[in-house]
Amino acid sequence: MTFSLRGKTAIVTGAGSGIGRAIALLFAKHGARVVVLDVAEAPAKAVGGEIEALGAEHQVVTCDVTDARAVATAFEAIDAGSDRIDVLVNNAGIAHVGTLLSTDEQALDRLYAVNVKGLYLCSREAVLRMSRSGGGVILNMASIASLIGLEDRFAYSMSKGAVLTMTRSIAIDFMSANIRCNCICPARIHTPFVDQMLRKNYPGREAAMFEELSRSQPLGRMGTPDEVAALALYLCSDEAGFVTGQAYPLDGGMLGAPSQKVRDAAKSHPVAGAPTKEKDSK
Ligand SMILES: NC(=O)c1ccc[n+]([C@@H]2O[C@H](COP(=O)([O-])OP(=O)(O)OC[C@H]3O[C@@H](n4cnc5c(N)ncnc54)[C@H](O)[C@@H]3O)[C@@H](O)[C@H]2O)c1
Repeated sequence: MTFSLRGKTAIVTGAGSGIGRAIALLFAKHGARVVVLDVAEAPAKAVGGEIEALGAEHQVVTCDVTDARAVATAFEAIDAGSDRIDVLVNNAGIAHVGTLLSTDEQALDRLYAVNVKGLYLCSREAVLRMSRSGGGVILNMASIASLIGLEDRFAYSMSKGAVLTMTRSIAIDFMSANIRCNCICPARIHTPFVDQMLRKNYPGREAAMFEELSRSQPLGRMGTPDEVAALALYLCSDEAGFVTGQAYPLDGGMLGAPSQKVRDAAKSHPVAGAPTKEKDSK
């Protein structure tokens, strides 16, 4: 089965890099007219060029998703190029490393502006249009941090928790307008986002931290942007017509098959009141 987006217009935010770029290219290969939206003009144009080379239709829109006026203007430009919006992938996001104590107010506000308010602004513009045109699909990029506690990711995790709950709210409020809304919760995916985070937070130790982060995932490696794009294609296709309000982990086994390291840690901290092995065995 090939999931088709033929004849559909799909906006991908943060499409100039990493996961967004992979989604934009895969959607174009599967027939969509892709709107490449990003705050960074040159990378967005470069992805536009890659889509053109595939012989697919596209539009490049430069927009900072934290700015309500810029988002409204971007959607007006999108209206001029297409009479409907079928798919919005809210992918643009930023990272942050820190605990409750080491996260300053400025960093918290910035994370919320991009990772939460940005999704709110773009979704509002899209839902207005989708409601008028008979429906559509919104796909949000959450994180494994939406589902489990990750060390040193206080503000990032909070922002991605909000993405998960926003997904459910949109799904339930606009079900009757035939709008589906889901999110993907990736664990570590190797993109410029990761390389940048390593450069900023672990200067001089990037290679060692890269190895450590890879090993910390049960499958022993980071995921790839193409692996995220494949799930995004399914969730945005008509074949996923019965799926809404859901969060899909794409996590290298983190939830379902924790690594030996995680299992060892659990063994050395037994849960109080849990049955012992002897009591369990018959
Ligand atoms: N890479 C990972 O390990 C990982 C894991 C879980 C979730 N995610 C999420 O996936 C999404 C994409 O991550 P990535 O790794 O591809 O990142 P990336 O840094 O490679 O790409 C992010 C893109 O978003 C754009 N962007 C940032 N701020 C913007 C703004 N204000 N307005 C418009 N565009 C903006 C950037 O210019 C960039 O092109 C993010 O939401 C991230 O939180 C990533």
